[in-house]
Amino acid sequence: LTLAVLISGTGSNLRALLEAAAHPDFPARVVAVGADREADGLAHAEEFGIPSFTVPYAAFPTREAWGDELAAQLDVWQPDLIVLSGLMRLLPAAVVARYAPHIINTHPAYLPEFPGAHGVRDALAASVSQTGASVIVVDDGVDSGPILAQERIPVLPGDTEATLHERIKPVERRLLIDVVQRIARGELELAP
Ligand code: GRF
Repeated sequence: LTLAVLISGTGSNLRALLEAAAHPDFPARVVAVGADREADGLAHAEEFGIPSFTVPYAAFPTREAWGDELAAQLDVWQPDLIVLSGLMRLLPAAVVARYAPHIINTHPAYLPEFPGAHGVRDALAASVSQTGASVIVVDDGVDSGPILAQERIPVLPGDTEATLHERIKPVERRLLIDVVQRIARGELELAP
């Protein structure tokens, strides 16, 4: 199974995928990494010798124009699966329609709780005793697609957004790698 991974930030989930895919018996490989900005995580792609591309959101007049260029870049690689892993941008409907259901996303909350760009901060603000991590199929809503995997994670007294997010990320990484492996082995269907 060939993967294209899209990021905006540090790419810790990307790195976990790259490390997993480096094992010969892992049934998927990352063929390209894309970002919507000069993301720090692109350094992981370089370290692993994976081609990367940047489609700077700020360089386009509309979300749709940005999406069209992103799709054009993805089409170069023809990935079997697109993994949004810290992409802090909603994909235009046309991009989702082009690849669905072969797009998955990691989210640092127990969906449908706390969707959107600030799932960790929102959980803290809600003073809940537990939150979670989720891997979903991307649809044209906001973190609203079918849930492929999720796990509860405790919120501890004194947690900050950073400490809670750092507790969530390792769980996200484990769920993501497991989901990719199951998809690659035909054990997990994406089509609704
Ligand atoms: C991850 O928690 C991801 O789910 C969320 O943003 C974070 C990105 O972290 N959308 P990283 O860039 O993978 O380190």
